[in-house]
Amino acid sequence: MGKTKYICPCFKVTYDDVRKAVHDGADSFKQVKKATKVSGKCGHCECRVKTFTKEILKDMEQKTCSDKTAADKDKKKANKKIADKSKEVEETEGKKKQSKKIADKSKEVEKTEGKKKQSKKIADKSKEVEKTESRKKQSKKIADKSKEVEKIEGKKKQSKKIADKSKEVEKTEGKRKQSKKLADKSKEVEKTESRKKQSKKIADRNKKVKNAEGKKKAGKEKNLLVKNQDNLKMRVIRLDDKNYKLKDVT
Ligand code: FES
Repeated sequence: MGKTKYICPCFKVTYDDVRKAVHDGADSFKQVKKATKVSGKCGHCECRVKTFTKEILKDMEQKTCSDKTAADKDKKKANKKIADKSKEVEETEGKKKQSKKIADKSKEVEKTEGKKKQSKKIADKSKEVEKTESRKKQSKKIADKSKEVEKIEGKKKQSKKIADKSKEVEKTEGKRKQSKKLADKSKEVEKTESRKKQSKKIADRNKKVKNAEGKKKAGKEKNLLVKNQDNLKMRVIRLDDKNYKLKDVT
């Protein structure tokens, strides 16, 4: 800038002193003069102080503007960040809400699924119970049928036993009858034999009687004589009841 160390050599006021005064709020030559006592003697520095003050003010204004702009930018950035954050937060919140909703839905679905599964399980259990009951009933029916069959079989066996017994009895009766018949036959045979014996005895007796009688006749006929064709005397000899022979009497 070509400026000397002192802007006011009379009072040894530096440029920095003037800058400080302006920064502290002096926004005109008068206020700078009041704050720093510049230009209070010869007055040669007045123009320099005025120009420098204006430059400082201008710089400050520009800086303020730029600061403002920067601040605005920062604010905008900050606002954008806040907005982004808010959006993120909102999105996060939305996502959280959505997640919560989804989780709630999932829970509801799970509950519903669980209930469905439970219902299915209960239904399956009921079916199993029904099947078991049905099987039990069928088993009972079969058992009853088996008992009936066993009873019938028992009765059949008893009937068969009775029939076998009857057959045995009949056989025994038949045998008895046969035995009786045989006995009767034997008796008849015995009787016949006895009769035969008796008849034989009688026949023997008759034979004996006849023999005796024959002998008697023979005795009588012993001396019976007859004549043959030649007029010769022949003795009649009795052989049996019907047959006779002639023998010469010599
Ligand atoms: S130079 Fe500033 S009063 Fe003299």
